[in-house]
Amino acid sequence: MILVTGGAGFIGGNFVLDWLANPGAEGIVNVDKLTYAGNLATLDSLKKDARHVFVHGDIGDRELIAKLLKEYKPRAIVNFAAESHVDRSIHGPAEFIQTNIVGSFNLLECAREYWNGLEAGAKEQFRFHHVSTDEVYGSLSMTDPAFTETNPYEPNSPYSASKAASDHLVRAWFHTYGFPVVTTNCSNNYGPYHFPEKLIPLVILNALNNKPLPIYGDGQQIRDWLYVGDHCSAIREVLAKGKLGETYNIGGWNEKANIDVVKTICQILDELKPRSDSKSYAEQITFVKDRPGHDRRYAIDASKVERDLGWRPAETFDTGIRKTIQWYLDNPAWIEGVVSGSYRDWLQKQYNWNLKTVNLSNEYPHLW
Ligand code: NAD
Ligand code: TYD
Repeated sequence: MILVTGGAGFIGGNFVLDWLANPGAEGIVNVDKLTYAGNLATLDSLKKDARHVFVHGDIGDRELIAKLLKEYKPRAIVNFAAESHVDRSIHGPAEFIQTNIVGSFNLLECAREYWNGLEAGAKEQFRFHHVSTDEVYGSLSMTDPAFTETNPYEPNSPYSASKAASDHLVRAWFHTYGFPVVTTNCSNNYGPYHFPEKLIPLVILNALNNKPLPIYGDGQQIRDWLYVGDHCSAIREVLAKGKLGETYNIGGWNEKANIDVVKTICQILDELKPRSDSKSYAEQITFVKDRPGHDRRYAIDASKVERDLGWRPAETFDTGIRKTIQWYLDNPAWIEGVVSGSYRDWLQKQYNWNLKTVNLSNEYPHLW
């Protein structure tokens, strides 16, 4: 088995699905707190797959994690669990400190204790893979070279600061305790099962619902976009062949200004699902107040993972964004579940889990 945390979220969910798509793959114990961003509907196709064990829990719950490690004896842990949305971290950083820093610390400590108790062969084989972000490196000017693994950490948002702190803990556990870790720092992901608070899914869904497409500030901020399936393949590669104690930057050499990303989405939607009035979806673009402390540019230099591990992304931005838009057009039920919160009501009814229903229209008046 491997143990995955945050496997009901966007990237973790894609990782679990991709991993188990291989018939010979090891099983997964998937621990997720099911915050507003966790969605079991993403894992619907695994309902009858005995290789997937879902556990509703918190990475900060040491008793639970210790019990799961003892019971399932995983040969690796992949830590996706996090609060991941920059705007939410600005409104309320406390959960980010709790999960991203304290939760990661608790998970590391449980994992270290488990690893210490393993027999020599299993101890040698064990890996703790920490999934992190390029946002820890801060913001680039238009002329700066892309981030390499040796860039200093200069996080600017509560989200990126909390991720930076967790990366430092992971690094220290390697250097101090010899605990076998690898860390990946990836650029912005997009793809299926992405919660519609982040730019790309938000724009697709707002466009289709005849709502404004909000662009922060001047829309010239640059992000380096990677299709989520490519991030998952990079994690598999690093988990299998990465050198202990190393960090690997993951990215697809796809720098785009936000306004260009939004215009591309509008063009593809104009082609795949034209507006009833035959006007372009680009008519819905609306410039809104900028995000406080908005990082101007992120860009990943992925030379190390390409050179040392032979990893390459399979998608370009053009192929990936088209697939993504098609997925949103083809999956109204998933979208409906996320947006209405009905999947939460279902969980409460079925399992008696007392989950908070998120009312998106209150929290994000610009969204629905
Ligand atoms: P997400 O917000 O979609 O999913 C996070 C998942 O973690 C959710 O299922 C949530 O329920 C779960 N979770 C939150 N707190 C938890 C806790 N205390 N215990 C257990 N589970 C908990 O996030 P994502 O976009 O899938 O990101 C996954 C990881 O990848 C994060 O660590 C993020 O920092 C990193 N990352 C994301 C991106 C991106 O573009 N989305 C890019 C690079 C790195
Ligand atoms: P986001 O998807 O939140 O990812 P991150 O902040 O982690 O990069 O935002 C991507 C970019 O899009 C970022 O520069 C902020 C911008 N943005 C908008 O212009 N409008 C929006 O409504 C959102 C959510 C983001």
